[in-house]
Amino acid sequence: MCGIVGYVGYRDAYPIVIKGLHRLEYRGYDSAGIALLDEELKIYKKAGKVSDLESHVKDIDMVGSLGMGHTRWATHGAPSDRNSHPHQSGNRKLSIIHNGIIENYAVLKETLLAKGHVFMSDTDTEVLIHFVEDIQQETGLDLQDAVRIALNKVVGAYAIVIMSADEPDLLIAARKGSPMVIGVGEGEYFVASDATPIVEYTKNVIYLNDNEIAYIRRNDLLIKNIDNTVQAPYIQRLELQLEMLEKGGFEHFMLKEIYEQPRSIHDCMRGRIYPQEGKVQLGGIKEYTEKLKNIDRIIIVACGTSWHAGLVGEYLIEEYARVPVEVEYASEFRYRNPIISEKDLVIAISQSGETADTMAALELAKEKGATIFGVCNVVGASIPRLTHAGVYTHAGPEIGVASTKAFTAQVTVLTLIAFYTAQQRGTITQSKLVEYLTQLNDIPQLVEKALKANDRIVEIASEFKNSSNCLFLGRGSSFPVALEGALKLKEISYIHAEGYPAAEMKHGPIALIDENMPVVVIATKHSSYEKVISNIQEVKARGGHIIAIVTEGDNDVRAMADYVIEIPETAEPFVPLVATIPLQLLAYHTAVMRGCNVDQPRNLAKSVTVE
Ligand code: M6R
Repeated sequence: MCGIVGYVGYRDAYPIVIKGLHRLEYRGYDSAGIALLDEELKIYKKAGKVSDLESHVKDIDMVGSLGMGHTRWATHGAPSDRNSHPHQSGNRKLSIIHNGIIENYAVLKETLLAKGHVFMSDTDTEVLIHFVEDIQQETGLDLQDAVRIALNKVVGAYAIVIMSADEPDLLIAARKGSPMVIGVGEGEYFVASDATPIVEYTKNVIYLNDNEIAYIRRNDLLIKNIDNTVQAPYIQRLELQLEMLEKGGFEHFMLKEIYEQPRSIHDCMRGRIYPQEGKVQLGGIKEYTEKLKNIDRIIIVACGTSWHAGLVGEYLIEEYARVPVEVEYASEFRYRNPIISEKDLVIAISQSGETADTMAALELAKEKGATIFGVCNVVGASIPRLTHAGVYTHAGPEIGVASTKAFTAQVTVLTLIAFYTAQQRGTITQSKLVEYLTQLNDIPQLVEKALKANDRIVEIASEFKNSSNCLFLGRGSSFPVALEGALKLKEISYIHAEGYPAAEMKHGPIALIDENMPVVVIATKHSSYEKVISNIQEVKARGGHIIAIVTEGDNDVRAMADYVIEIPETAEPFVPLVATIPLQLLAYHTAVMRGCNVDQPRNLAKSVTVE
């Protein structure tokens, strides 16, 4: 939700900043802007994508070795040139980029307006930089102190970078609730919302903590907290590789990420399962084994696709570990005074590890004394740093806004947590565990096989690409898969789609079924197979078109369905991992055929850091 990048050093800032903005564009693409300081402070900004900004400045000599850039997901103020970042103070000497929301901006703005400040945009961000200017004017303090005092009075979330025309060697970066990474080079520093703009220049990074302010000069870095106490920075080595950020020959990141799943699922299990011994090892939560043995309840909090993974987790944990699980929308959880105590385990699932709703839910649960685990993909993100323990998904960077490989990795981790907990609680036999872990070990090959249905899915997508609506049905742990299939289709193709438990259809949605309604049914040969067949008949009787996801070799459903997509046979707990693949491909091809921008669907952002 807004990407920010900055550079101070001996090189030209523009190429670094513009490349960084391309890398961060997944966070928002309503507008883009750059500030450069050479002899004077210059701002260039444009509504639209980073490429629009590039065209806008193509004939300008973009000089300066101090610079910063922003790619925006609009919150306060419509996407437009004037609301694009960077914003400036009234005297045009200060410039700011911001990711987050200044919640008390209206009060601050009122006071500033009364003092004669004139605003050029509708944003909360512009108010903050005027506020800093105002403090400087009123108190005569230097910029560093004025920023610190302003941030002490701000309510809300922010990652900001500030430049001053009077300080040609200084970037001020600060964070509270929104991510910020500092890249440490030799005679140069980088700042960014994540490490992707930094990785090709240095592997040494510092993750700024909440309430810290960094004063960054090309040969000096000073970090203080908001109370003005000097902090000792902790420099970490990045494991990210540059190739992970490229499309690698695929037309879109989303397709690349779909095809990466055999590897990402494998990476997620590596060193964690020992099939022959029937053993699961999860180093990240090992210290909490006793807690898991005695736990009465697990609450999963997440949003979007991660919430769907949580629902799969609920089936698996309840089935195998016999612990009651509640799965909550993080955004609802914190606003309804939930009953949580120190006896509870709360698991947050988040690809980005930065989702504001999920973080807020976690903070609440932590305040109430619960033990907190994270299941996150981005190493070092805010959620893993907030939790007591956790298990990384290790899916690698996910750039496509629609989540694909992160989902299957989350489901894999939850499967491991279910089996680990079951093993510790003695709710699964050793022989069953050996059997299941052996099958789980083979899932990457089965996913590889499921990907072979691609051509068949292209045919089906071309048949239904002009539909206005689509239903997705599944039972048991295939119900969350249906929800995920519907979310994928709607978010990238803009076709209205709903996921339902197959049996629930007759309680309402069946009224929607006619000859124009494609119905995707997950009908694999498992416990609810016969019941799902009845649901298929109910759709057929009303003229609906069935696209069935079936177990390889199933001729019974083939005889009833209009289209079938076969997936390889697997044991019931692993169906979500395999059945999701054709639904991702169906959404992808449908969206491409409809001319949609699959990697950057309208109105969305990869990382939602506002509540
Ligand atoms: O980074 P997170 O997993 O916390 O993100 C949660 C949702 O915003 C995310 O899954 C969203 O629903 C995706 N666009 C789904 O494809």
